[in-house]
Amino acid sequence: MRKKLQCLGLCAMLLMLAGCAAKTPEKESEAVVVGFSQLGAESSWRIANTKSVEKAAAEYGFGLMMENANQKQEKQIDAIRSFIAYQADVIVFSPIVETGWHNVLTEARQAGIPVILVDRMIEGEEDLYTAYVGADFYAEGRRAGEYLRKKADAEGAQRMRIVEICGTPDSTPMRDRQRGFLDELAGDGRFEILESVNGDFLRSRGEECMEALLQKYGKDGIDVVYSHNDSMTLGALDVMERQGIAAGRDILLITVDGEKDAVAALKAGKVNCVVQCTPDLGGDVMRLVKDLKAGKEIPRITHPREGAFSDLEDLTDPAVEGF
Ligand code: AHR
Repeated sequence: MRKKLQCLGLCAMLLMLAGCAAKTPEKESEAVVVGFSQLGAESSWRIANTKSVEKAAAEYGFGLMMENANQKQEKQIDAIRSFIAYQADVIVFSPIVETGWHNVLTEARQAGIPVILVDRMIEGEEDLYTAYVGADFYAEGRRAGEYLRKKADAEGAQRMRIVEICGTPDSTPMRDRQRGFLDELAGDGRFEILESVNGDFLRSRGEECMEALLQKYGKDGIDVVYSHNDSMTLGALDVMERQGIAAGRDILLITVDGEKDAVAALKAGKVNCVVQCTPDLGGDVMRLVKDLKAGKEIPRITHPREGAFSDLEDLTDPAVEGF
């Protein structure tokens, strides 16, 4: 533990020194140290999100202590404890799941360190964090459902059998993308959810899930795949292509995120709808850190502006691009 703290201290010092060397009028806050617990590296989205936080911290001249938890909640809790021991100025973290944070966040509050949640939320515990920066996942789920209703209208479809490949259980995007989608389709008898399976936001799991679903229902038994992220969608797409299924026509594909490969698949007619979820949250987070340190009031919730792209629109519009 002691060794770890020494190492964290050294890293932070080096980062601060680097900040001093490159001092610009923008970089007025070299003394600020942000502890950032990233939840993993499970998707291209996550990797882009990590880069966004690192870039923004450097732009603001903040020292960044970053720990990647490799999808393990215990590792995130350890990282937050190390930031508390180091007395970071602000703790930023992306909770892998919504529950199980009470003790460690109480410790942060007792140490007087504000906590900003990025990307994902926690359940309850409103007094244990200062702000949330991230997507409105419920709205994303509704956008996915709204697309499907319009598509069914456009095709005059009377029946659509849907399989859902879900993200990590108990995580905010999994819970809210599912809830939004189901709410949007509720009461419309054309839609039937055959099954919801866990793909953990991983491409390899998306592949496994799709294989199992096709084995169970057959290609003619599934009309739509609603997948909670692009990584799983691209895995599912690989399986469909291997099995000679015309993705986008034989089976409709709705995905969330908007990474380059998914948008390219949309343009190629293999994916039907891409609901956007931007990983570029670092700038908003660091602006809040700066305001917080300056004693300003900060907004409790910051949602980035997001939309959706689909085959019901003009895909030659240059605005249709991925990250
Ligand atoms: O929490 C955001 C989700 O997590 C993204 O949709 C997904 O790609 C990531 O793994």
